[in-house]
Amino acid sequence: MQKVAPPRTYRVKSFGCQMNVYDGERMAELLAEQGIAPAPEGEEADLVVLNTCHIREKAAEKVYSDIGRLVKDGRRENGTSPLIAVAGCVAQAEGEEIMARAPAVSMVVGPQAYHRLPAMVADAVAGRRAIDTDMPAETKFGALPARRKVGPTAFLTVQEGCDKFCTYCVVPYTRGAEVSRPFADLATEARRLVEAGAREITLLGQNVNAWTGEDAKGRAIGLEGLIRELAALPDLARIRYTTSHPADMTEALIAAHGEVDKLMPFLHLPVQSGSDRILKAMNRSHSAESYLAILDKVRAARPDIALSGDFIVGFPGETDADFEDTLRLVDAVGYAQCFSFKYSPRPGTPAATMAEQIPADVMDERLQRLQAALNRDQHAFNAASVGKTCEVLVERKGRHPGQWLGKSPWLQSVHFEGEAEVGEMVALELTAAGPNSLSAIRREPATA
Ligand code: 5AD
Ligand code: SF4
Repeated sequence: MQKVAPPRTYRVKSFGCQMNVYDGERMAELLAEQGIAPAPEGEEADLVVLNTCHIREKAAEKVYSDIGRLVKDGRRENGTSPLIAVAGCVAQAEGEEIMARAPAVSMVVGPQAYHRLPAMVADAVAGRRAIDTDMPAETKFGALPARRKVGPTAFLTVQEGCDKFCTYCVVPYTRGAEVSRPFADLATEARRLVEAGAREITLLGQNVNAWTGEDAKGRAIGLEGLIRELAALPDLARIRYTTSHPADMTEALIAAHGEVDKLMPFLHLPVQSGSDRILKAMNRSHSAESYLAILDKVRAARPDIALSGDFIVGFPGETDADFEDTLRLVDAVGYAQCFSFKYSPRPGTPAATMAEQIPADVMDERLQRLQAALNRDQHAFNAASVGKTCEVLVERKGRHPGQWLGKSPWLQSVHFEGEAEVGEMVALELTAAGPNSLSAIRREPATA
């Protein structure tokens, strides 16, 4: 590699989950601290960070095609060559291969090592390519700069990694073992986020409800304790958390849903399948029945809770009868919204080499049927909200003049017209439900 001029502008492109969004924001803050500015809209950046996701198929191919779209033979059409960093879970899983196959890439950095990005940029400028996929004992968080200005909604990673080893999933390999960030660090970061403008914080973790820590008095607490602590921040209006595992849905966390007003009535609790046989083969440590029993308790604590989940269709060995069990579970729950995926064999995971992989056309058909059922329930949930009055946190301007967009407590997108400002909490009456959003009107005159 040749020496290059130090980059003046950067762009971070994040794919996949919300934790990648958070990591992308933190990398941007790190680069900004080095005096590198975000590239203006529509302008090419000197440094491009591809913050990748490895959860499903063709992740690596997607990275190579993204690189190909950025540069041909290391150059853009205008003859310049950006510095390219590949970050995220594909970097972790396939870093060496990326280095070998993509000479245009000068930095490969895993999700636990990105605090070292500035040093890697300096190396790249000096003409040295660098790869760092360590999972160091010291965490990256201590090395990251303080939070800058943020929007009304912010993410806060409280826990990373996974010890559950579902047989289809790469996360335990790419993100490593479950680690909880210390309570004091989280309390500080949350306070800074609120000072920087956040009115809603979403606590993030691959298994966020596995978070454990000690409060300021040294008492052992779980996620509910952290939520209660953050709820005491006067200018923080809303708390959410995602994503959870049924095995870590403790009584104390369920109780918090009934007791902490700032904890929003929304729970994303992936189930993956409604068939106990498949759940066992997935190594999910819960049955359909035990999952439904958890939801009953959550509903008892917070009757208006909106439920969300994740599903995989076509896991190896899934029969028509297993799939019917999934549809039955969907009917039993009545989800407000869900994510559903075709099973994708991930190299190195136990399920990838299981017998009875399911043909693509069967998966397609099952996914269509499942999504039809989930869409039906989402529409029903939205339709049932019409007529309710609720608080909406205004997140941004809409496409039409005078229009604003925000979220209901149940995480529905809501649009309305009138006087408002970003970050304001407004009382709205939900008046009509579309497929993906609701319209609403102000219940009170805007306060100046
Ligand atoms: N194939 C398909 N979907 C997967 N997920 C995780 N691994 C796979 C896979 N190999 C889905 C699960 C998980 C969500 C984040 O992605 O539903 O909850
Ligand atoms: Fe993957 Fe299962 Fe861990 Fe979720 S709980 S990250 S699906 S291994």
